[in-house]
Amino acid sequence: MKIVGKPVSHESACEHVTGRALYTDDLLGRFANLLHAWPVQAPHAHAKILSLQTEAALEVPGVLHVLTAADVPGANHVGPVRHDEPLFPDEVMYHGQAVAWVVAESEEAARLGAEQVEVVYHPLPAVLTLEEAISQQSFLNEPLRVRRGEPEQALLEAPHKLKGRLEIGPQEHFYLETQATLAYLDEYGQVMLQCSTQHPTETQAIVAEVLGLPRHRVTVQCLRMGGGFGGKETQANPWAAVAALAAWKTGRPVRVRLNRTQDMTLTGKRHPFLGKFSVGFDDEGKIRGLKLELYSDGGWSLDLSEAVLLRALLHCDNAYHIPHMEVVGRVCKTHKTSQTAFRGFGGPQGMVVIEEVMDRVARTLGLAPEVVRERNLYREGDTTPYLQPVKDAERLERIWYELKTSSEYALRRSLVAEFNAAHPHKKRGIALTPVKFGISFNAIPYNQAGALVLVYQDGSVLVNHGGTEMGQGVHTKIRQIAAQSLGVPLEGVRIAPTRTDKVPNTSATAASTGADLNGAAVRNACETIRARLAEVAAQRFGVNAQDLAFEGGRVYPLGAPENALPFAEIVKTAYSQRVQLWSDGFYRTPGLHFDRAKGQGRPFHYFAYGAAVSEVEVDGFTGQYRLRRVDLLHDVGDSLSPVVDLGQVEGGFFQGMGWLTMEELLWDAEGRLATRGASTYKLPSLAELPEVFNVRFLQRAAEPGVVFGSKAVGEPPLMLAISVREALKDAIAAFGTGGVVELASPATMEAVYWAIERVRSRALVSGD
Ligand code: MTE
Ligand code: MOS
Repeated sequence: MKIVGKPVSHESACEHVTGRALYTDDLLGRFANLLHAWPVQAPHAHAKILSLQTEAALEVPGVLHVLTAADVPGANHVGPVRHDEPLFPDEVMYHGQAVAWVVAESEEAARLGAEQVEVVYHPLPAVLTLEEAISQQSFLNEPLRVRRGEPEQALLEAPHKLKGRLEIGPQEHFYLETQATLAYLDEYGQVMLQCSTQHPTETQAIVAEVLGLPRHRVTVQCLRMGGGFGGKETQANPWAAVAALAAWKTGRPVRVRLNRTQDMTLTGKRHPFLGKFSVGFDDEGKIRGLKLELYSDGGWSLDLSEAVLLRALLHCDNAYHIPHMEVVGRVCKTHKTSQTAFRGFGGPQGMVVIEEVMDRVARTLGLAPEVVRERNLYREGDTTPYLQPVKDAERLERIWYELKTSSEYALRRSLVAEFNAAHPHKKRGIALTPVKFGISFNAIPYNQAGALVLVYQDGSVLVNHGGTEMGQGVHTKIRQIAAQSLGVPLEGVRIAPTRTDKVPNTSATAASTGADLNGAAVRNACETIRARLAEVAAQRFGVNAQDLAFEGGRVYPLGAPENALPFAEIVKTAYSQRVQLWSDGFYRTPGLHFDRAKGQGRPFHYFAYGAAVSEVEVDGFTGQYRLRRVDLLHDVGDSLSPVVDLGQVEGGFFQGMGWLTMEELLWDAEGRLATRGASTYKLPSLAELPEVFNVRFLQRAAEPGVVFGSKAVGEPPLMLAISVREALKDAIAAFGTGGVVELASPATMEAVYWAIERVRSRALVSGD
């Protein structure tokens, strides 16, 4: 009986839809003495704090305390990578930064108190755009570089050359559940946190540092998250630290839950990027050489920006073999929120740039972009610019040609041309784009995971692992892995909420590795237990331990299922023989290495592949467009859980589409975020779903060396959405008479309109 690979529903599906599922803030009713905290947010993007007076705030009924740097017993910083983020700053580094927190009996009292905190600021000049940062040499890191071959020489010798630039906009995570923590102390002064965090271990570490405590006195539990998308990988920590500090100071339980506006103005976003490229190519559109500069807007502090940038560098080849190439990247420092992890972690930005290059090369030569893309695809035996072999390029080709066929690409290409010839004011466009995404944390120590699997005397199983559940289904997959590995039914296994006192030193649930790493650790623990039980059962049956089957809650000698004994009975026997019924488990990804100075190595355990076809129709008067049809073919290996994976592919695509088409974050001239809620920040909704949406998984796709032959799926499908942007350019091109299409990102209606205007006016000038 196979449990892994069965299309079961999400383990909390019923709780999600009935509203019974508990999220961190739902626990607030359990605390009698609960206090609330509210931030005092600075009205400047950059300013010195000259004074901060709390007396008036303390007069407000219900206000207990105003937290400032003076309250911090440990370190006044919460920077996860570099110590560059004071929790209570003396210099404001972005508009809306919290300079103090008011703690009160009610949220309302805390809010009123925050209004009474008197802060005197001395405003300073602010750096608000990438261009300003570059011209002022305002950077957060030294340049990162990946280089292969002789790109300057290749550019010199190439028959054709072009140069260009592309700015890529940021993205708000907009998880439905905003940042939330509840902190309380036990009778020994140990700190317990309920926290919506993708990285409980780091939250624990930061809280311990702020309080000056050893980590064993701080415990973090994450029940589940209402979405994280990378936005709770590091950025749950500051608010957790505030809650913990307030609990420490007052001795009472404290709740910090950001409302939507606070969340949008306080937390980091997907990094905006600027890419500048020079590319040399031949008559066929094959790339000979590429030089690329990538600038990301990191905001005020480093956070994960360097790792995000590195991932962008390692993905600006996407699925293409570029023989001579150099990419240099730099993180810019601006007076904005500290931009952070977001699904794809820089990979999407790198890939948008190379797809832009492919499109411009094709349009310069008058070739169809899919032809140029196809000619440059990785083939068996190729290596990436950082010298990792693309060992399964065969899959990429298989996906490409299968999707071309199943989406009827050739036919639809000609139908699009027919439509466009007949319609002067409406144009259709179609695009086929590939995805290759590297799986593993680039920070190599993160590629480890632990588990603690408990079997009770009645045969029921409780699994603890280091992964956090954010809707992506890691608990569902791991439950299937545990049930299959122990040979018990799914209902026989329960997954416990993630806690730092059950499995320590965990990695963030990120880089799409949650199921790969924690699943393998859980399987390891289950195999240990099963081997012990097999010894016990072997004695009872009088056979060798390896000749036993564990299946569906029964144990029997191979070939003799009629003699089966219940799993619970073997467990009971094992207990009476004093055999240990629980075990830890561990996994580390083998074979990873990367030399940052050289920009070379094998940073990824494997690549996830996919491809997408999108077709759009654009209105020439307004720039309005709709997505007529989308076909996705994605490689999830042997799916651990097909319903979950389908949700990930559809959801990832859709989130990527939102980023590239309609989600637009705007800051005013003072550096104040103008789009600070759902009313001004347009998210994709049902109305934007493609009219036809075909999603398929690659078949015969087992991935060797990964738990049950599966493949990571959390992030890669997001980049399938690049096909929508490319299809829009294809339609825009049809309003003109050829040549490069310059389309801003996000491709809002307005951006599409101006792109059409540009191709039209060029057609007029050239007299066609
Ligand atoms: N899916 C849902 N529903 N909610 C999320 O927050 N986060 C994404 C992806 N899918 C996310 C999601 C991100 S950014 C990552 S890295 C992975 O899930 C993390 O989980 P995994 O490693 O278990 O795939
Ligand atoms: Mo995902 S951006 O790696 O949390």
